[in-house]
Amino acid sequence: MSPIVEMRELRKSFGAVDVLKGVTFDVERGQVAAIIGQSGSGKSTALRCIDHLEKINGGELTVCGHALHTDKPDLAALRKDVGIVFQGYNLFPHLTVGQNITMAPKLVHRRSRKEADEIGREMIAKVGLADRWDYYPEQLSGGQQQRVAIARSLAMQPKLMLFDEVTSALDPKLTGEVLRVMEKLASEGMTMILVTHEMQFARNVADKVIYMRDGRVHEMGGPEILSQPSTPELADFVNEEF
Ligand SMILES: Nc1ncnc2c1ncn2[C@@H]1O[C@H](COP(=O)(O)OP(=O)(O)O)[C@@H](O)[C@H]1O
Ligand SMILES: [Mg+2]
Repeated sequence: MSPIVEMRELRKSFGAVDVLKGVTFDVERGQVAAIIGQSGSGKSTALRCIDHLEKINGGELTVCGHALHTDKPDLAALRKDVGIVFQGYNLFPHLTVGQNITMAPKLVHRRSRKEADEIGREMIAKVGLADRWDYYPEQLSGGQQQRVAIARSLAMQPKLMLFDEVTSALDPKLTGEVLRVMEKLASEGMTMILVTHEMQFARNVADKVIYMRDGRVHEMGGPEILSQPSTPELADFVNEEF
């Protein structure tokens, strides 16, 4: 079976600035890949290319069978297959938790209200917030809002979930509750790519660790590379982060 993500020599520039300078990696079905690296190394850009939030300038990228290096990639199909969660939760403040979660399934998947409610309630239970269905975002903690954002993404039943530093704005206690939700998803077999500074989490949960440096993959391997890096640059990075 072909990988969920196949990235080959991917290039992306903003104006004259080359941000991704030939990035190659695969993510297989059911794998958890953690992208780590210094700020500005191109982690978010690589993730955003996978969801075609950034248009690629060169190389090849196939995501859930959709080739994004072609003239007219099927973006509607891509967006149904890929969920993305960012550092900011981006919940609609004037909608309840339940309304936030069921909106896209109703609009995009054309689900009936009953169907959307069913799957929404299943997902809110999965993130441990079943009793918050009728709350508004401002009545929730940051960690709870982030878990609602994850549930909202899951309600679209994606094949691949992307997480970009989803715990960076949270204090340690709230970080832990969000990481536990992600760990559970991983154990249920969800294919996930996460940009993270949580080295402990990467070591425990990731099948593949991708260390980016200056727009390239500098070192890649199993989670053991965090304990036994091959390059001095990853060794330094790991020392700073742990
Ligand atoms: N929309 C953009 N326009 C111009 N430059 C950008 C844009 N997005 C990112 N960059 C630049 O690309 C580089 C990599 O950014 P990013 O992928 O966000 O890195 P990371 O997530 O590893 O911190 C940075 O130098 C950043 O300033
Ligand atoms: Mg980033």
